[in-house]
Amino acid sequence: MSNLRMGIIGVGGIAQGRHIPVFMELKDRVAITAVSDINITRAQEAADKFGIPKVYQDYRNMFQDVDAVTICTPNKFHAEITVEALEAGVHVLCEKPMAITVEECEKMIAASEKTNKVLSIAYHYRHMKQAQAAKKAILTGAVGDPLVVRVQALRRRKVPGWGVFTNKELQGGGSLIDYGCHLLDLALWLLGDPEPVQVLGRTYNRLSKTPGQINEWGPIDHESFDVDDHVTSYITFKNGVSLLFECSWAANIKEDSEHLSISGVDGGISVFPFEHYQTSKELFMNTEAPPVVGDEPGLHQAENFIDACMGQAELTVKPREAMKVTKIMEMIYKSSDSEERTLLPN
Ligand SMILES: NC(=O)c1ccc[n+]([C@@H]2O[C@H](COP(=O)([O-])OP(=O)(O)OC[C@H]3O[C@@H](n4cnc5c(N)ncnc54)[C@H](O)[C@@H]3O)[C@@H](O)[C@H]2O)c1
Repeated sequence: MSNLRMGIIGVGGIAQGRHIPVFMELKDRVAITAVSDINITRAQEAADKFGIPKVYQDYRNMFQDVDAVTICTPNKFHAEITVEALEAGVHVLCEKPMAITVEECEKMIAASEKTNKVLSIAYHYRHMKQAQAAKKAILTGAVGDPLVVRVQALRRRKVPGWGVFTNKELQGGGSLIDYGCHLLDLALWLLGDPEPVQVLGRTYNRLSKTPGQINEWGPIDHESFDVDDHVTSYITFKNGVSLLFECSWAANIKEDSEHLSISGVDGGISVFPFEHYQTSKELFMNTEAPPVVGDEPGLHQAENFIDACMGQAELTVKPREAMKVTKIMEMIYKSSDSEERTLLPN
C-alpha cells in the first residue's frame, strides 16, 4: 500500500514541535507532501527546514495534493477548515480542542459522516503509557463502578505568553480550553464516555490582570488579558459519578501538578504516576508503577490516525467523544458567566 500523503495546515509551534517530526519518523507509512499557512514566509521556512515539497498560503489549494491533513491553526479556524477538508475528500486530524462551540463540532461530525472520511482530535494524553495502563486496568475491573473523580491540571505561574494563547477571539478561552481540556478528555475516556447532567463552573483571571506578576513563560499584557487563568468545576453524570475539576496556568502553588484519580466501589486508580489501590480481606494493597520515561504519545497518536485512514484500526479519539469535552467546557464558561447560581437561602 502506498504512503498516506499528509498536509499540515498552520505551521507554528505544535506543527513544527510535534506533528511534522513525528510524521517524518513514520516515513515508511506517511509522506508530508505540503504545508499551508496564512503566513507564507513561515510556511516556506518550515518547508525548507523539513524538506517538504509544496507550500500554499490558501489551504484549499492543497487538498488536491493530499489524502489527509493535520490542522494546527488557532481554535477559531478548526471547524471551518475541517469541514472544507472533509468535503474535499481529505481525512482530518485536528488539534485540540475540537472547536470552541458544540455547534461547530456538530458541523464537523456531520461532514465526516456525510463524506465517510476519518476525523480525529489530537487529545494525545490518551496515548500516554500511564493512561493506556489505567484504561486497561479499568476495563478489567480495577475500580468496579466509578464513584468520584478528581482532576487537576495545575501550573505554577506559567501563562503561555507567546502566540495566540491569551487571545479570546482566536482561542475561545484560556487555561481551560488550552490545558484543562486534556485532563478532562482523559477522565471522560477512562470513565467510558459518561453523559454529563450538571455542570457548575467558576473562572478566574484576577492574578494575570494584576500588574507586575512573575510569569515563567514569557511576558503577558495584564491590561488586555481577558481569558481564564484558573478554573474550577463540579460535574455530575447520568451514572451518578461526580467529577471535581481544577485547572490553572497561573496558580500560587508549590509546584506544577497533574492529577487524575478515580475512586470506585472495588478499587481506585491514579494515573500520574499509575497506581492501583485495592483491599484484600483486611489488607490495603497498592500497585505502583514508576514514572514513565521516554514516552511518545504524539507518535502513538500519529500511528493510530494513519491506521484509521488506512482502514486498519479504530480511532482512539472519536469525534463525538471530543465534542463532549467541548460541551462541558462550554457549560463551565456559561455557568461562570451566568447570574443563576445554586444559592443557599439566606
Ligand atoms: N496537543 C497539544 O498539547 C497542543 C499544544 C499546543 C497547541 N495546541 C493546539 O494547536 C493549535 C495551534 O497552536 P500553536 O501553538 O501551534 O499556535 P501557533 O500560533 O504557534 O501556530 C498557529 C499557526 O497557524 C497559522 N494560521 C492561523 N490562521 C490560519 C489559517 N486560517 N490558515 C492557515 N494557517 C493559519 C498561523 O499563521 C500560525 O503559523 C491550537 O489549536 C492549540 O490549541 C495543542
